[in-house]
Amino acid sequence: MCEGMHDEHERQLPAGCRGPRLAFRPASLQVRYSVAFVSRSTSHGVYRLQDATVPEATRVMQIRPERPEDREAVFDVNRLAFGQENEARLVDALRQSSAFIPELSLVALDGSDVVGHILFTRITVEGRSGTHDALALAPMAVLPPFQRQGIGSALVRRGLEEARSLGHRVVIVVGHPDYYPRFGFVPGRPLGILPPFEVPSEAFMVLELQPGALLGIQGVVKYPPEFDEV
Ligand SMILES: CC(C)(COP(=O)(O)OP(=O)(O)OC[C@H]1O[C@@H](n2cnc3c(N)ncnc32)[C@H](O)[C@@H]1OP(=O)(O)O)[C@@H](O)C(=O)NCCC(=O)NCCS
Repeated sequence: MCEGMHDEHERQLPAGCRGPRLAFRPASLQVRYSVAFVSRSTSHGVYRLQDATVPEATRVMQIRPERPEDREAVFDVNRLAFGQENEARLVDALRQSSAFIPELSLVALDGSDVVGHILFTRITVEGRSGTHDALALAPMAVLPPFQRQGIGSALVRRGLEEARSLGHRVVIVVGHPDYYPRFGFVPGRPLGILPPFEVPSEAFMVLELQPGALLGIQGVVKYPPEFDEV
């Protein structure tokens, strides 16, 4: 089942050897995922994978909502990506909470193997103008051997599309300031959206899913209590 595994990463991979095959090739032979959106007509986002070393070879990556049978793999992807269990446990805790939105816990699959995960949960922005609903993007994780191949970006874009189509209006993320602006996130503080904890200003970002969604919204973000444990 695990043939072809011959480097450091194999010892870190979850049981069942999920998704290691491509990543153990030398870098020059590594398969690159294309983030071209091939089909939006099915319930799954289908992405085609081009292997530059074998021009005719293609693989398909799917992004779809997680299913109950994905939970162990989702835990492992978060644990291995972050190098600790905190975020994986956070996902498990949020799944039991009223903040959880099943359609917005998405997995990226290489074949049938879960190699990436993204979660959006309900939060609020509370200020003088009242309490406003928003989404938190957190956490997001791609299995280390699969990072930097476009999977994370595909998960963010698909998640934002789904969130928009479900009628959500605002997304907030605490994350790498070099990564999230490419999806349209901008610093929250200058707009009057404030984090409830100490965080570098540029790492606290916000995105409108609908034009004008942030008009009149100012205040402090309130996360579900599950986030306090991380
Ligand atoms: C962040 C993460 C989900 C991105 O997934 P990915 O599939 O590697 O992302 P993509 O391939 O779409 O994008 C890669 C780009 O993201 C940026 N990037 C990825 N990880 C980064 C990091 N730790 N710091 C800054 N930029 C990062 C790089 O600019 C990279 O661009 P490059 O290809 O020019 O080097 C993945 O690196 C990961 O799981 N990291 C560990 C967990 C984590 O930090 N999660 C995010 C919490 S906010």
